[in-house]
Amino acid sequence: VSAERGGYPHFMLKEIHEQPKAVRDTLRGRIAEDFSRVQLDELNLDDAFMKAVDRIHIIACGTSWHAGLVGKAVIESYARIPVDVEIASEYRYRRPLFTPNTLVIVISQSGETADTLAALREVKRQGRRVLAITNVVGSSAEREADDVIITWAGPEIAVASTKAYTTQLIALYLLGIKMAHVRGEIGDDKVRELLKGLEDLPQATEQVLDTAPQLERFAQRYVDTMDTFFIGRSLDYSVAMEGALKLKEISYIHAEAYAAGELKHGTLALITEGVPVIALATQPDLYEKTVSNIVEVKARGAFVLGMTWIGNEDLEKTVDEVIYLPKTLPELAPILAVIPLQLLAYYAAVARGNDVDKPRNLAKSVTVE
Ligand code: G6P
Repeated sequence: VSAERGGYPHFMLKEIHEQPKAVRDTLRGRIAEDFSRVQLDELNLDDAFMKAVDRIHIIACGTSWHAGLVGKAVIESYARIPVDVEIASEYRYRRPLFTPNTLVIVISQSGETADTLAALREVKRQGRRVLAITNVVGSSAEREADDVIITWAGPEIAVASTKAYTTQLIALYLLGIKMAHVRGEIGDDKVRELLKGLEDLPQATEQVLDTAPQLERFAQRYVDTMDTFFIGRSLDYSVAMEGALKLKEISYIHAEAYAAGELKHGTLALITEGVPVIALATQPDLYEKTVSNIVEVKARGAFVLGMTWIGNEDLEKTVDEVIYLPKTLPELAPILAVIPLQLLAYYAAVARGNDVDKPRNLAKSVTVE
């Protein structure tokens, strides 16, 4: 079994470390050599439909839903198409509103999650076009959708999803950039800038893995902690939600993600002496605002691990410890920022003696509704 795990003590750690390759494999062949355009040649969706799309519904569960939240931000800001991100088990039991050219995107690592499939089938029954982002060739989602983008993460064994999430983000970036380009919302220069940024990510993810020892140390704080908070704004908030989920899933510590600007509307009451707070500050345009929220939790005694880009030593003035991420385009930062949070969850679960790869009460693929 240890051989299957490639020498790693757990599948989860192996899969975290496979992310540079997973990201590279998911990008392969999908960026023109001269960075002039996205090549998603597998899509049946033609340019005319991409131009006509007037609304997008993204449907998913769990970690895939969190990827959808980043997808919304990316598609709305580049392609200027309104996007709703919905939890499959909610979406399928109400009567969603469709515009004439609504595109539905389902995201599912396994392609077999019952609620996501039920939503896909209901949408198709209503004559709508469905694009699936999935990691499993031959899965139900892959076979039943009109269009498919495969994430080439390779088999994900650990219940807690890691490399599937980062590759789902890659798929969503590629799709968002493509739609934006086709619709004329971004020009050739911006396309080139974004595609070069994506191309640099495998290398950057490799570099982020070097933060592992720092996270292993910080995770020891979680041995006796029952509560923690993850805060951030905009894209950082979406990543914070995924970080909190990871920690809950495998360490069984209660973790909550909060939009940093929303803390003052209630959550601050829960911050007391010594409560660990993970503060994401990877977005330069929101940096000052986020710092002011970090100051608020520090003033109540929180012990804060901050995350920001390399070179921004300013954060050290405010927080107790800093994780530095390689420089990338701010919109691509989620792919890097999630990795230390995966590592934190992993090491916290190990420190607490939990069964990391098979957490209690959870299944890798949920085929009940
Ligand atoms: C389960 C897994 C999660 C996963 C979710 C959705 O709850 O434990 O890790 O995010 O299902 O799975 P899917 O295969 O549809 O992405």
